[in-house]
Amino acid sequence: MHISSPGKRTITSIRPVFDREKPKMYIETYGCQMNVNDSEVVAAIMQKAGYAVTKDIGEANLILVNTCSVRDNAEQRIWGRLEYFRQEKKKRPDVSVGVIGCMAERLKESLLENNIVDIVIGPDAYRDLPKLVEKTESGQKGINVLLSREETYSDISPVRLDKTGVTAFISIMRGCNNVCAFCVVPYTRGGERSRNPETVIRELKELSANGYKEVTLLGQNVDSYSWDSVYFADLLAMVAEAAPDMRVRFSTSHPKDMTDNVLKIMAKYDNICNCIHLPVQSGSTAILQKMNRKYTREEYLLRIETIRKIIPDCAISTDIIAGFCGETQKDHEDTLSLMKEAGYDFAYMFKYSERPNTRAARQFRDDVPEEIKIKRLTEIIDLQSELSLTSHKKDLDSIVEVLVEDISKRSENDLCGRTSQNKMVIFPKENCNIGDLVKIKITDCTQATLKGILI
Ligand code: 5AD
Ligand code: SF4
Repeated sequence: MHISSPGKRTITSIRPVFDREKPKMYIETYGCQMNVNDSEVVAAIMQKAGYAVTKDIGEANLILVNTCSVRDNAEQRIWGRLEYFRQEKKKRPDVSVGVIGCMAERLKESLLENNIVDIVIGPDAYRDLPKLVEKTESGQKGINVLLSREETYSDISPVRLDKTGVTAFISIMRGCNNVCAFCVVPYTRGGERSRNPETVIRELKELSANGYKEVTLLGQNVDSYSWDSVYFADLLAMVAEAAPDMRVRFSTSHPKDMTDNVLKIMAKYDNICNCIHLPVQSGSTAILQKMNRKYTREEYLLRIETIRKIIPDCAISTDIIAGFCGETQKDHEDTLSLMKEAGYDFAYMFKYSERPNTRAARQFRDDVPEEIKIKRLTEIIDLQSELSLTSHKKDLDSIVEVLVEDISKRSENDLCGRTSQNKMVIFPKENCNIGDLVKIKITDCTQATLKGILI
């Protein structure tokens, strides 16, 4: 049986006398790692306002959905969820529904034009959430989609929603100042701002004290991090030194901004993982130029060569878009050949999806037919499967260090974790625990995972 869910008006009057009587917030997150971390910031803000977090939508007084606008199908999924929330509201009319994040920022008031959504709040306005929730208690709707030049939520310790307690994110910056022609992010997340490094270190120490074993530093473009005279390479060194027992990762690097200094710091500190996410988007210089990526195919490949020189066992992953405006068969073949040259270990691959008001939507026609986009994307995915398998086969018979993250999804008798190169390893549990750093001999692999035994 549920603990009695107080009606909205009662919520304010009884809070926060007994824990069990706290109003409950449920949050669903879509999109990137930054959104995952933002949901944790939102949970911290709402906890301070007297809410408890629940994983059971059926007992929530407040349902939030943290949204993504990067591709149309991401938004379509969220519309589907909103219809589901409508059913939930029919059952319990006192429930409030909030749309937060990128889609809230993009669609603003129009999201309120239905009988589902009560609150709309953009990525820089989360501190306003308790106030807007209170407004809904008197039957009003609430919206705040102001973007900020300063907000980094640097004083807020995120409430970690992933309960395994091994890996965590720290956002080191917000927003983006690049104008990649296809991308809606600069419009939904605003301009770039870095976070005070002292607050990054404070959050890192909290994680370490709470037993976390790995941190991923997040930013849309980490290489342009800057706070006074602290640049990304400096911050990375500070983090590696402040928590020598923790693994350190970061994402995302922009090929035009990544410096050799960052690579040297990676090579210097053993606890910084040998793995770089370096989105290429296309292998054709002409398309890269139309995308406004500000590097050529040759410059990108030179970056990869430098990475391999400085960190020989570094894994490299990427993002690729198939079928951008004006992409010819030759451009597509350039992407395939670049993938082979780069020998990616892993890739996220997408069909181009036109986003309203982006530079590409304003300047170019989305002229690659859908069936060609699908065909090219399939070829890209097939090639990446081969490359990932090749990468995994290289690890056969070797001994790798794995940070144990969880019980395997397939079998309760197996554990799973990642290598420094971010490759997923599955192995029989024996007497290992989640959070252990263990040595595994790799005995088998697929294109998705490595399999091994404890040594
Ligand atoms: N269509 C397809 N993919 C996109 N991405 C960003 N915008 C679009 C778009 N309009 C991809 C890019 C980016 C990743 C996060 O999402 O590859 O690196
Ligand atoms: Fe979008 Fe480009 Fe900024 Fe990445 S760097 S968030 S792709 S505009």
